[in-house]
Amino acid sequence: MKIKKIAVIGGGIMGRGIAHVSALAGFDTILYDISDEVLSAALSSIKANLNKAVDKSIISLEQSNAAQNLLTTSSAFDDAVGEVQFVIEAIPEKINLKTELFSKLNARCGVETILASNTSSLSVTEIAAVVENPSRVIGMHFFNPVHKMKLVEIIKGLETSASAITATKDVAVQMGKEVVTIKESPGFITSRINAMIGNEAFYMLQEGIATAEEIDKALKLGLNHPMGPFEMVDLVGLDTRLSILRFLHQSLGEKYRPCPLMEQYVKAGRLGRKTGKGVYDYHSEKKRD
Ligand code: NAI
Repeated sequence: MKIKKIAVIGGGIMGRGIAHVSALAGFDTILYDISDEVLSAALSSIKANLNKAVDKSIISLEQSNAAQNLLTTSSAFDDAVGEVQFVIEAIPEKINLKTELFSKLNARCGVETILASNTSSLSVTEIAAVVENPSRVIGMHFFNPVHKMKLVEIIKGLETSASAITATKDVAVQMGKEVVTIKESPGFITSRINAMIGNEAFYMLQEGIATAEEIDKALKLGLNHPMGPFEMVDLVGLDTRLSILRFLHQSLGEKYRPCPLMEQYVKAGRLGRKTGKGVYDYHSEKKRD
């Protein structure tokens, strides 16, 4: 099946980035979210990122215009997903939300439509269990910011078919990405390691070993990480990271227990860049209080 039209579900940090690369790759792309406010913010941010890419001569003005023409948004579920051959889900990292959505996709999409989840850690098999033909359900894990990060992890659930894997690889490659294909396992490769490093950094902060700036500096200059763990978690979103850790803790054991300080930050609404404050305060650009 030739993939021409893609629906991206969820217009938050990841969904808007995926919609950007999808339209730029020449796919007719529809971005769906339950919130019209989110959709209009998503559209502005995609336009701003495309403009920046033109200014830096990464893409031409024609490519940017073509991408914007291929991109539409909708908060009407049936309209958004009815006609597409490929769906990429990017809603919050909660299994009940994902299974509820995939049940609706099952009812509304064609039986051949490939249903990909951008989950960072959850079980593709569990998500697929609510779908009539689970062989078309697959994990397609993008990285943040999507328009800059090269990798896509492709996750094979218990029932995922070889043809769904091939189609997903083709879509990712057309979007300019490199892929790794892995068998389902909690947190895949990257989220499992990243969550561990980020959690350990929070324990260090909680123990008062060093400031957030010093921990970030140490990992960047001493271990050659391009970002410190706190800069990273502020980009990812502390709520998303906490959901991942809770799942890893429950599925892989004690060493993934979320740090209480991270839990406290989430309770305080300090979710990272998306709320203006996480470990660092972005209202006055990166000052930790
Ligand atoms: P986010 O919180 O920024 O955005 C989620 C969006 O989903 C919101 O706009 C919300 O309005 C919308 N939404 C909620 N329920 C919905 C529904 N039933 N139908 C349609 N839209 C709905 O979350 P983010 O960070 O974009 O994460 C989305 C997924 O991507 C999660 O599974 C996360 O684990 C994964 N992910 C996140 C990364 C990150 O750096 N934030 C990196 C890679 C994967």
